[in-house]
Amino acid sequence: MNRIQKITEKSSALVVSWESGENSVYPYLYLRDNCPSPATRHSTGQKLIETSAIAPDIAPLKVILSAHQEVVVDWNCGTHTSNFSADWLFGHRISRQAIQERQEEKKKKYPVSLWNAALNKSLPEGNYPDVLTNEVALADWLEKVSTYGFAILRNVPAEPEMVIQVTSLFGYIRETNYGKLFDVKTTVNPNNLAFTSLGLSAHTDNPYRNPTPTLQLLHCLSSSAAGGNSILVDGFKVIADLKAYSSELFELLCTTPVTFSFADQHSHIERTTTIIGRDVYGAVNAIRFNNRSIQSFEVEEDKMLAFYTAYQQLAKMIDDEKYFVQFKMEATDLFIVDNERILHGRTAYDSAAGERFLQGAYADRDGLLSKMNVLNYRRYTNENSNTR
Ligand SMILES: [Fe+2]
Repeated sequence: MNRIQKITEKSSALVVSWESGENSVYPYLYLRDNCPSPATRHSTGQKLIETSAIAPDIAPLKVILSAHQEVVVDWNCGTHTSNFSADWLFGHRISRQAIQERQEEKKKKYPVSLWNAALNKSLPEGNYPDVLTNEVALADWLEKVSTYGFAILRNVPAEPEMVIQVTSLFGYIRETNYGKLFDVKTTVNPNNLAFTSLGLSAHTDNPYRNPTPTLQLLHCLSSSAAGGNSILVDGFKVIADLKAYSSELFELLCTTPVTFSFADQHSHIERTTTIIGRDVYGAVNAIRFNNRSIQSFEVEEDKMLAFYTAYQQLAKMIDDEKYFVQFKMEATDLFIVDNERILHGRTAYDSAAGERFLQGAYADRDGLLSKMNVLNYRRYTNENSNTR
């Protein structure tokens, strides 16, 4: 346990001196705003006070360090008293180093493993009857999705709408203009190349939506046609290699706006974004690559060819078999991909010599991560860990 040696009141902040020798500074406004009492912060994590209503120059009337290592603050505004445990204070240190440490801890919680074709030897997969009946099996399968960006699920009954049932194990269907689910098979006058028997180079789905669905599921109901292998590519691995090859090309794909669009009789959907997305810390968190729905580049004349160099380099890498995980989906197979990380495609198939029928659906990553958090909490606190 981290023990407080002493506290010092400064004009706008409290300084906690730890027995380790470290000093931590907490502005009073920050302390009042984040008071852990149930009157300020609900057990759901929701804040119950208006930050804007706190006087910026709020200060304590009195501060004591109790014998139980609690810092007790009586405030000069209102009648509230706050109790900050040593653990709470230690967990809320706001030095640059402490904030960075907590960011690193969060990343370690659900580590990401980049992959290439070597992963073909041991595809991440689960078994539907197991994940349906056993929370640990479900948590393990979801963790594979989080780590590798995709996972296969075997033995999902080859019945219509099972893709909705599987989604309900961890989250919610994201309904689109294609419906709650969509059929992928050869059709006459298809409105999308996916609904033909042609090969499809690896892509992410629906970059024209805002927000783009972050998960896609595909379930195979029949597979007697020759060909039609599924191809998956880890977009984050390709981007890491592209960045190592040329940081200039990488930067162009991170910063150049492009527009994706889809239009038919009933819908006209459009989004302008970048091909590589980065999070608030600058780390890559999305790839949006779909050569069918991308529109003419709106890039100035002196920069156009450089952008084409970057785009074509990325496309060639995505098309390089050294990055391919490849497998033939049989009836009862399902896979789920993180649609902003993993590109999916397929080889051409012969629709004259058999049938290939998949059902797909979209969902979102937040539901999956929430389910993982809940399952892992139960698992590691040993509560109801084997039944659902
Ligand atoms: Fe697709």
